[in-house]
Amino acid sequence: MEKQPILATGRLYLRPFDIADAPEVQRLCGDYAVAATTLLPYPYPDGLAEVWIASLREDVGHGDAAAFAITLAPGGSLIGGVRLRIDADHARGELGFWIGRRCWGRGYATEAVRAVIEYGFSVHGLHRVYAMHFSRNPASGRVMEKCGMLHEGRFREHVKKWGVYEDVDLWGVLREPAPRTGTYIPPPLRGMSL
Ligand SMILES: CC(C)(COP(=O)(O)OP(=O)(O)OC[C@H]1O[C@@H](n2cnc3c(N)ncnc32)[C@H](O)[C@@H]1OP(=O)(O)O)[C@@H](O)C(=O)NCCC(=O)NCCS
Repeated sequence: MEKQPILATGRLYLRPFDIADAPEVQRLCGDYAVAATTLLPYPYPDGLAEVWIASLREDVGHGDAAAFAITLAPGGSLIGGVRLRIDADHARGELGFWIGRRCWGRGYATEAVRAVIEYGFSVHGLHRVYAMHFSRNPASGRVMEKCGMLHEGRFREHVKKWGVYEDVDLWGVLREPAPRTGTYIPPPLRGMSL
């Protein structure tokens, strides 16, 4: 079983999720404002948080994820979460994150996501970290930008959310970053065989 450390940043403590976090996860993720820009259901059903935390702990144990509960003090109450889904074959991780609404706009997501990107590179030896957000959720894109990720493109109507096809933006960062040009410009296609 993989064991996760506690990551201390300037203001935050990132620790493993515990099953005891379930009621708070349900309360914070049950907020319409959080559900509306994620793939979370609304309303958030009873029992889902327990199942989610258990599966998260299993994924972490198998090395398929790193997941951190965000708190403001050691032993303090939960304010959000960051997860890195790890694909070891490709040495890449996909980020997902949320902050409880009362704590938005204080730089907490940026601080936590930066620490988890660094953790993915240094501890899991990842080569690439990427993340996606609904194009109508610029705050999430701004967090990714502030964490040194490059905007790599937009998938049109990539996700069906509550019956509506939604555009999704893709951001990524490499351990050895390419020179920053704002937007990733792919090299010209040559005769390609996979
Ligand atoms: C997206 C989210 C994680 C941001 O958390 P946060 O702690 O408020 O983020 P930060 O304070 O670190 O940074 C937010 C940035 O977005 C900016 N921002 C906020 N609303 C914005 C908007 N409508 N348009 C553009 N930028 C916006 C803020 O000004 C800030 O940037 P700045 O530091 O340059 O001023 C939070 O809103 C959230 O949990 N939302 C619901 C779940 C979600 O969408 N998760 C991401 C899924 S990919």
